[in-house]
Amino acid sequence: MKFEKIIPELKEYVRKEMGKGGAHDFDHIARVLKIAERIGEAEGADLDVVFFATLFHDIDRQREDKGEVSCHAESSAEHTRRLLRNYLLLPGDFIERVAVCIERHRFREGRTPESLEEKVLSDADKLDAMGATGIARAYIFGGAFGERVWEENPKNERFYPGMDVYEYSPRTEYVLKLSKLKEKMFTKTGRKLAERRHRFMEIFFEELENEVIGDR
Ligand SMILES: [Fe+2]
Repeated sequence: MKFEKIIPELKEYVRKEMGKGGAHDFDHIARVLKIAERIGEAEGADLDVVFFATLFHDIDRQREDKGEVSCHAESSAEHTRRLLRNYLLLPGDFIERVAVCIERHRFREGRTPESLEEKVLSDADKLDAMGATGIARAYIFGGAFGERVWEENPKNERFYPGMDVYEYSPRTEYVLKLSKLKEKMFTKTGRKLAERRHRFMEIFFEELENEVIGDR
């Protein structure tokens, strides 16, 4: 299946579930689908598994944001099992391979991607948090919470509810998280793409610092 031939009804369903705005809307899915297809092709992955896993990987993200589920990866995997079984009538072993990709796309202790398809989704999803896209997403997210453009001393802890967001900026996210993503790539193709995106973020934040201190 070629990714551009997404069944329209399926696409609409995912779009509705993802909701509008923020860093995790359907645009995120559309971008990750393109990059996952590129990595999957180069690495020789099963593109059908990669396609369904990528399409549904964040389908319950909003439910986690609303506090309805504790882990969107687990919940999205379960949601996908139901969908693929009940509406698309796909074989059980195929559904399981898709669901496990979704469960393991979120890096957590004791749960890392193992199959090639799991690695492809994980890499593609992380790449969307890097480079120009990653910076744009971080500022969209930060802007919605009232963060600053620049924070002089990035805190040692990540943003958490109740924290004074004015102490925080997307640069903090870059220092603490985004700058480390390139080390979390699993495939050769993912690593190569991550290098360029990492370099762009370095240049952006160097330039931003120089502008903030009045050097440019
Ligand atoms: Fe994602």
